[in-house]
Amino acid sequence: MAVLVTGGMGYIGSHTTISLIEAGQEVIIVDDLSNSSVVVLNRIEAITGVRPKFYELNVMDESALTQVFSENEIESVIHFAAYKAVGESVEKPLEYYTNNIVNTLTLLRVMKAHGVHKFVFSSSATVYGDPHKCPITEDFPLSTTNPYGSTKLMIEDMLRDIAKADATFNVAILRYFNPVGAHKSGTIGEEPNGIPNNLMPYITKVAVGKLSRLNVFGDDYPTHDGTGVRDYIHVVDLADGHVKALQKLDELPGLVTYNLGTGNGLSVLDLVKAFSEASGQEIPYQIVARRAGDIAMCYADASLANKELGWTAKYGVKEMCEDSWRWQSNNPNGYEI
Ligand code: UFG
Repeated sequence: MAVLVTGGMGYIGSHTTISLIEAGQEVIIVDDLSNSSVVVLNRIEAITGVRPKFYELNVMDESALTQVFSENEIESVIHFAAYKAVGESVEKPLEYYTNNIVNTLTLLRVMKAHGVHKFVFSSSATVYGDPHKCPITEDFPLSTTNPYGSTKLMIEDMLRDIAKADATFNVAILRYFNPVGAHKSGTIGEEPNGIPNNLMPYITKVAVGKLSRLNVFGDDYPTHDGTGVRDYIHVVDLADGHVKALQKLDELPGLVTYNLGTGNGLSVLDLVKAFSEASGQEIPYQIVARRAGDIAMCYADASLANKELGWTAKYGVKEMCEDSWRWQSNNPNGYEI
C-alpha cells in the first residue's frame, strides 16, 4: 500500500517524501513541475536509495489522476500541490482559486471513487489572519487577508464539511508556520521562481551574491526590536510531522487539526543575525516601509501536536540557518545544472 504525495517534487513535498521513505513507506509522487524540477527525483534517490514512482500531471486532470489510482494500491494521500505566493495570489486570484480549489475537489472525488479515506492537508498559519495574541492555538478564530490564504481556509472548511458528512473520512489538517532549512545533505532545498518573497530564501540569495541587500519591511512593529516576528520551523521537522500525522490517521480519528511550529518567535533581525553567525556571511540590509498585508507577530502553540502525535520540532535556528546555507552555497543556481 502506498502514500500518494501530490506536489512531492516541491520544497516541503520532497523533504516529506524522504521522511516517508525513511519510515518505510512506499511513496508515489504526482507533480506538474510548474514550480519544481525533475532533478529532485535523482536527489531523493541519492539520499534514500529509492526512486519513487513519479507521474508528471496536474491534479486537476481527473482522467490522468484516476489512472494513477487505478494502477496503484493507494492507501492515503498527502496533498501539497498548490500555488503558494501571497503577492501573486492578489494579482491572479482566478488562477489561485482555480488551481488550489479545483485540484483539491478533483483529488477528493477521485479518492472517494477509489475508496481512499486518509488525507493529510497542507494548510498554513495564514488561516489565523492577524491573531489577537500569541502563541496561537488551533481554536483561534480563522480569517484571511489574501486569495492564497482564502484558498487554504476554503479547503479547510470543505474538509470539515466532508468529515462531518462521512464518518469514514479521516483527515489531518496541518497548519505550517514559516518553513526554512533544507536536508542535511545540501542536495535538496527551497528554490523559488524569480526574486524570493520569503525572508530565508532572500537572505540566502544575498549571502550567495545574487542579490545585493535585504530589505527589512518595517522596524516600527510592536515587537522587541520593531521588526516582524515569526515562528521559523526546519523543513525536516515539518516533514516528520507529516509522517506522524499519517500514523495518527491509522487510528481513524475523523478530522484532526495541528499547528506545526516551534513555539519560538524570532524577529527579522534575529534571523539575519543567526544566519550571519551560522554561515560566516555578512548580510547587508536596509530598513524600508512595511509590506502591505504583513502582521507584527505570529508564533505557534504546538503543544497539541506534541500531545496527540508525539511530535515536537527538534532543530533550532542554528541548524535552520546552517542547512539553508549549505543548500544555497552548494547550489547557487538551484536545480539548474
Ligand atoms: N521580510 C522582510 N524582507 C523580505 C521578506 C520578508 O523583512 O524580503 C519579513 C516580513 O515582513 C515578515 C518576515 O520577514 O516579518 C517573514 O516574511 P515571509 O515572507 O518569509 O513569511 P510570511 O510570514 O509573510 O508568510 C509565510 C508564508 C505564507 C504563509 C504565512 C503563514 O510565506 O505562505 O507565512 O504564517 F501564509
